[in-house]
Amino acid sequence: MKYVLRAIPILAIVGMLVYLVTVMGTIDHPGKPLYKINCASCHGEKGEGIKKLVPPLSGTTYPMEHLDSIPCWLKFGMNHPIVVNGTEYDQIMYPVKLNAIQTANVMNYVLQELQQKDTTVSSKWVEEKWANCK
Ligand code: HEC
Repeated sequence: MKYVLRAIPILAIVGMLVYLVTVMGTIDHPGKPLYKINCASCHGEKGEGIKKLVPPLSGTTYPMEHLDSIPCWLKFGMNHPIVVNGTEYDQIMYPVKLNAIQTANVMNYVLQELQQKDTTVSSKWVEEKWANCK
C-alpha cells in the first residue's frame, strides 16, 4: 500500500511531462499563421513556389544568401530579375504590410520551418535593415 501511495506523485509527474512534451510538439511556429496569410498564396504552403512565376522559399539557398535584403524586399516590394535554382524569375512581389515583429516572425518561419536552419532574426535586426533600405 505504502509503495502504491509513493508511486502516485511520481506517476503524476511523469504524466505531466509526457503531456507537456506532446503538447509542445504540436504548438505551431508563431510565424506560421503570418506566412499562411501573407506569403502562402504566392510561395505555396510549403514554400514550393509557382512554376516560373514565383520562386521557391524551400529547397533553395537563395533566402539564406540574401538574408540582409529580405526585410526591405518585404517592406517595399521586389521587382528585378533573379535566378533561383537555375530558373529566372521576374514578376513583382508587392510590399506586405507587416510590422518589424511580424516580419521577424515570418522570416523565422521561413528560415526554421521551410529551410530547417538554426537561424533566428529579431525585430531589432529587421528595424536596422529597414533603416538602410536602398
Ligand atoms: C503576390 C505574390 C507574392 C507574395 C504575397 C509574396 N511574395 Fe515573395 N516573391 C514573389 C515574387 C514574384 C518574387 C520574385 C520577385 C522578383 O523577381 O523581383 C518573390 C521573391 C521573394 C524572395 C526572394 C527569392 C527567394 O525565392 O528566396 C523572398 C525571400 C520572398 N519572396 C519572401 C516572401 C515572404 C516571406 C512573403 C510573405 C511575408 C512573400 N514573399 C510574399 C511573390 C510574392
